[in-house]
Amino acid sequence: MRIHYRFTLIVLCALVVISCKEEKTDKVTASNQKEYTPKVFDVSKFESKIDSLISKMTLEEKIGMLHGNSMFATGGVERLGVPELKMADGPLGIREEISRTSWAPAGWNNDFATYYPAAGAVAATWEPELSYVFGNSVGQEARARGKDMLLSPAINIIRTPLGGRTYEYFTEDPFLNKKLSVPFIVGVQDNDVMTCVKHYAVNNQETNRGTVDVLVDERTLREIYLPAYKAAVTEANAYSLMGAYNKFRGDYLCENDLMLNKILRDEWGFQGVVVSDWAAVHTTVKSLVNGLDIEMGTPKPFNEFFLADKLIAAVKAGEISEEEINKHVKRVLGVLFQVKAIDGVDRETGSIATEEHYKESYNIAVESIVLLENDDDVLPLKLEDVKSIAVIGNNATKKNALGGFGAGVKTKREITPLEGLQNRLPDGIKINYAEGYLERYIENNNDQKENISHNGPIGVKELDETKLQEALTAAKDSDLVIILAGSNRDYETEASDRLDLSLPFGQEELIEKVKVVNPNIVVVMIGGAPFDLNKVKEQTSTLVWSWFNGSEGGNALADVLLGNVNPSGKLPWTMPKKLSDSPAHATNSFPGDEIVEYKEGLLVGYRWFDTKNIEPLYPFGYGLSYTNFEISNVKTDKETYTENETIEVTFNVKNAGGIDGKEVAQLYVSKSDSSIERPAQELKGFKKVLVNNGATENVTINLPVKELAYYNVDKKAWVVETGAYKLKIGNSSRNIQSEVLIDIK
Ligand code: BGC
Repeated sequence: MRIHYRFTLIVLCALVVISCKEEKTDKVTASNQKEYTPKVFDVSKFESKIDSLISKMTLEEKIGMLHGNSMFATGGVERLGVPELKMADGPLGIREEISRTSWAPAGWNNDFATYYPAAGAVAATWEPELSYVFGNSVGQEARARGKDMLLSPAINIIRTPLGGRTYEYFTEDPFLNKKLSVPFIVGVQDNDVMTCVKHYAVNNQETNRGTVDVLVDERTLREIYLPAYKAAVTEANAYSLMGAYNKFRGDYLCENDLMLNKILRDEWGFQGVVVSDWAAVHTTVKSLVNGLDIEMGTPKPFNEFFLADKLIAAVKAGEISEEEINKHVKRVLGVLFQVKAIDGVDRETGSIATEEHYKESYNIAVESIVLLENDDDVLPLKLEDVKSIAVIGNNATKKNALGGFGAGVKTKREITPLEGLQNRLPDGIKINYAEGYLERYIENNNDQKENISHNGPIGVKELDETKLQEALTAAKDSDLVIILAGSNRDYETEASDRLDLSLPFGQEELIEKVKVVNPNIVVVMIGGAPFDLNKVKEQTSTLVWSWFNGSEGGNALADVLLGNVNPSGKLPWTMPKKLSDSPAHATNSFPGDEIVEYKEGLLVGYRWFDTKNIEPLYPFGYGLSYTNFEISNVKTDKETYTENETIEVTFNVKNAGGIDGKEVAQLYVSKSDSSIERPAQELKGFKKVLVNNGATENVTINLPVKELAYYNVDKKAWVVETGAYKLKIGNSSRNIQSEVLIDIK
């Protein structure tokens, strides 16, 4: 059966090869420029109903709506038909049901969900449409579980490669970040459930996250850390945002007038609700007045929350007016009406853990896998003379749907890499599995949720002799070795940052020793954040990066290794050669103590590496394919533009490598004669394009001139500098293949 499947595939591929021999040029529209139209969000249409409800509520009932009355819901007013606002994590899919009064699982037997690829994987697809697919799919699951709010997406910028939540976030680049955030949010909210976009904002480290005061200059704030949040509000109509744990310029994010009132509401016109991160509130009157609407928290009697009895007392003492309370209750009612939780006719009812959702999870996973090295064309695997394959490594069987502190997913399906290979390899090939290295910790700081230190879990470096011998035997007995190494969700976790970039559990030594007995090795790293791969790279010419890749991750990986799917993932962050090359570390401004000052300013991620001419191990935007692409002939529709125009950038992408494949063309912009400091180049457009073997696609990226603006701090405005700009197209930030100059008048 499986042989037939593969045979059919080979025949199909051959047919494609033959039919595409003739060179042709097709037109492709940039799908990442597709408009994702959000539902209209205008709470004024509910105003009279809201006012009428509020007029009937007691002070206690109103305040009950402004704080958790259980772990993941705020109070409702049953007698008036106002339900609780029900929430669920999170970024990997719908979290299992949590008890009302503690973090313990509620013990339901019908809360199994689809485990979706982590955000890092979604970003590595460089495909906004897949972000929409994810949002829409997980939105349906949220509804099927009766939720009003999904605590996702998490869109903080990746500032340091050590960040414990790097896997949960998209990228180091603000443009890619917003282009993925918007479709995700629209997709979720299309299902009558609101996203809670988190963690607003500048929450870029776990170390001291509950106390640290982040100092970042205004221009950097606007150009790097806020664009995706702004787009979430102004382009995707997100109905809610989560205030982060940390401080910004002296004030906690959940009581930060500048961030919550001035920027979010006054500047961006946000009409939704601001929900606190769990136990991120420190004051009563100040929090409410400065823009927080709902306080959520970790277990303690809910009436002891800052926005509970203390708030009732504050109103009674005249420290805050009932009108102010009404303002916040109005917002909560507004979003409940918006998602049809009140008065809801035809509210979406959703579906959960369906085959369709697993397929969507697969579709994301399979486009996220990044081919880092393939010098000897070992991949796709050539199985003609292969009778046995050694599959070695704890990550061959490790599951990541749950683990660490962050919200996970209780799922009935998580295909591991080993299972994926078992499913996809032709019958007759023997798999010799050995665990190879053990997941062991010297000191597991995983009980530090409330008292964060940056010392994340530390892996034992020594190999277990028995496990090593088993691995060597499996390798010796096999024609080919696939090593599954990297990290996992216990090692990369919320609530701590990693101590360094080293690979845990002695896996470097394992790879080295296995190579001695069988040099025919493919190394696959599973992980969500940069690691030091220098030594691994010396050991193998075949290196693949996969992620915490969802329910179908193992099948997706096997399909890429076997060539059923040509890899097309690209790194959404820079992999440094060493930690001290990374901006936050080079400037000695991580993790700070009481204060962390972002000294690298605008030069986050590749902006630093490119401006300072530091060679990364793997650059931002990098990823190989089983075919070769050539990008050429970049042109613009005109030479000169004005501020309100859009530049039509066209170029050719030729597939000259033998099989069909997808390439991510990336548009970077430089302005060398700028009167202000600018990074060497910045991503301002991209397009993932399928190019058949032998074909050339003519691709268009539309670049609104406004995207070239910088934030002028004196004018408090976005300004487009006039003069010359260089537009550069490549397939990574370090492989620019064609350039053109334009002029802005
Ligand atoms: C995390 C949030 C999460 C919340 C509820 C917090 O510790 O920072 O991302 O949504 O817990 O689980």
